[in-house]
Amino acid sequence: MATKTPKALAANLVASAGPEDAFLPRLTAVATDMEALLDRLLGSEAVDGEVARPPRLMQAMRYASLGGGKRLRPFLVVETAALFNVRRERALMVGAALECVHCYSLAHDDLPAMDNDALRRGQPTAHRKFDDATAILAGDGLLTYAFDILSRAETHPSAAVRIALVALLARAAGLGGMVGGQMLDLAAEGRFAEGPLALDETEVTTLQAMKTGALLRFACLAGAVLGEASADARRALDEYGSALGRAFQIADDLLDVEGDVAMVGKSTGKDAAAGKATLVGILGTANAKAHLASLVTQAETALAPFGRDAAVLKAAAHFVAERRA
Ligand code: IPE
Ligand code: IPE
Ligand code: MG
Ligand code: MG
Ligand code: MG
Repeated sequence: MATKTPKALAANLVASAGPEDAFLPRLTAVATDMEALLDRLLGSEAVDGEVARPPRLMQAMRYASLGGGKRLRPFLVVETAALFNVRRERALMVGAALECVHCYSLAHDDLPAMDNDALRRGQPTAHRKFDDATAILAGDGLLTYAFDILSRAETHPSAAVRIALVALLARAAGLGGMVGGQMLDLAAEGRFAEGPLALDETEVTTLQAMKTGALLRFACLAGAVLGEASADARRALDEYGSALGRAFQIADDLLDVEGDVAMVGKSTGKDAAAGKATLVGILGTANAKAHLASLVTQAETALAPFGRDAAVLKAAAHFVAERRA
């Protein structure tokens, strides 16, 4: 994925855009808006309460977050929020906060002490472009900034809604979510003194629900929180987000086996050699693909209460499974 404009990016994402697919133009629209918003939020001027923004750190934070990525998580925030007629600018703010957490997770995931990768989004990884310390601090800066963004009145006029988003994102990102999942991922690989942590299918499913699923699930629930939706609507989106999250990592693991580096924009063929715990490894490619298909159906079924309004979210579930990047 060396091409960096949202439009060029979209062209790379799937083998062919489906027939009634409003999905790709809408994903591209969010990607364009996200680029502009992150560019504004990550400007060089210090904001009220900050002392100064050191240029090298700013550059690294911008490098890790601008000019690439599918922006699927912000898309999910925007499109789930649209079900409840939430103003797009508000959903984009939450999408920007979430994308900051996601980009931080990638910068840290690529570090030599973690997956040790040289390529991300078709470009050198943050620590290769800068250095390990700068990539660590850029990640720290992005993580912290996410909560700064959520706390702003621009995100939602109701403080109760903003606090609900802060709590939800903190729990999705941290100990019992993404960070916890990353710990299990490395433990399963046998990186620590205890030796490899053997995980069965259920345990790998939990690991993946944490390291990848938690942020995607947040993306889908955030729309309902912003829209102050009913408990039923929230439950439906929770179910959709959980199925989508599980599907997303299986597709990612399949891309590691079958993907094309130029298209995927990151290294492939490394997971099995590294001893990563994946469902592709446990079930085999064919069974993993069947499982992936059933998760897409599960995601679609969860959207039933929203009828036609959720067509683009159904298309997103198919995209997650069929994507090439
Ligand atoms: C990659 O996420 C990391 C995983 C959770 C598997 P994405 O495939 O969404 O990465 P970008 O943001 O599009 O680069
Ligand atoms: C990482 O999973 C999930 C994160 C929390 C970043 P992977 O390690 O499989 O993601 P890629 O393949 O490097 O994008
Ligand atoms: Mg990893
Ligand atoms: Mg990785
Ligand atoms: Mg991967």
